[in-house]
Amino acid sequence: MALFNRGYDETTDTIHNGARLITLADPKSVVAEQFRTIRTNIHFMSVDNPLKTIAFTSSGMLEGKSTVTANMAIAMAQEGRKVLLVDADLRRSTVHVTFKVSNQRGLTTILSSSSNEVVLDDIVKPSGVANLDVITAGPVPPNPSELLGSRRMQQLIESLRNAYDVVILDVPPLLQVADTQVLSTHLDGVILVVRQGITPKAAIRRAVEALKVSQANILGYVMNDVYSDDAGYGYGYGYGYGYGYDDEESK
Ligand SMILES: Nc1ncnc2c1ncn2[C@@H]1O[C@H](COP(=O)(O)OP(=O)(O)O)[C@@H](O)[C@H]1O
Ligand SMILES: [Mg+2]
Repeated sequence: MALFNRGYDETTDTIHNGARLITLADPKSVVAEQFRTIRTNIHFMSVDNPLKTIAFTSSGMLEGKSTVTANMAIAMAQEGRKVLLVDADLRRSTVHVTFKVSNQRGLTTILSSSSNEVVLDDIVKPSGVANLDVITAGPVPPNPSELLGSRRMQQLIESLRNAYDVVILDVPPLLQVADTQVLSTHLDGVILVVRQGITPKAAIRRAVEALKVSQANILGYVMNDVYSDDAGYGYGYGYGYGYGYDDEESK
C-alpha cells in the first residue's frame, strides 16, 4: 500500500498544498499509530523534566520536517494536551497552508514589532483541530536569522511555554542556515528527522555536530519514509534514541 502517489512535485508540495495530515485523515492507520509511538517515547524521556518546547529538524530541505512536525502536534493534541505549533521556518513556511489559516500576521509580525509587549491573542489562531493552536510564519522578512536569534524570540518562547502544555516548532534545516542552531539552544529538546534513502550519512553527522555545538538537547531521531518490505508503506516512521544512528548499517 503506497499512501502517497509520488507523482507530485515534492519541492513545493507542502508549500502549496500543506503537509499531509495522516493523524487526522486516518487516525487508525499504521502511520498514525507510529506517530503515537513517537509521542509516547517523547513522554518517557520527560518524566522528571517535562519537555515543553520541542523542534523536529533535519540536515536539509524536503526531509519531512513540516510533515512530521504537524502530525506530531496533532498526535499530542489528540491526547488532550494543549498544544501550540509555531511556524519558525520563515523561508519555506507551510503551517498556514496545512491548516488553511491566514498568514497575514504571524511570528514575524510579533518579532519585528516595535512594541515591547507580546500580545499573543493577536497572532495565535485556532487550527481547527481540538486542543491545537498555531502561530503561522507571517510575512517573509528580509532578515529571518536575525529575527529567530533575537532576544525577543527567546522571550516569546518563554511566554508560550507558560501558556501551553507543549510548544512545537517547525524549523528550517540545520545545514543551510544558522537559524535552527541558534534557536535550539533555547528549546527543551530537538529531534532529528532523517529521510531514509535521501539524507546522506555525512549530512546526519554534520547536523548532529551542529546541534552539539549549540548545546542542544538531542532527544533522538525520527526516521521518515521507511521502506517496509512486507507492507510496502510509502510512509513509515521509526524512532530512535541517541545519535549513534550513523554507525548502523541500515542507512
Ligand atoms: N514519508 C514520506 N513519504 C512520502 N512523501 C513524503 C514523506 N515525508 C515527506 N514527504 C514529502 O516530501 C516533501 C517535503 O516534505 P516536508 O515535510 O515539506 O519537508 P521539509 O519540511 O523537511 O522541507 C513534501 O512533498 C512531502 O509531502
Ligand atoms: Mg518544512
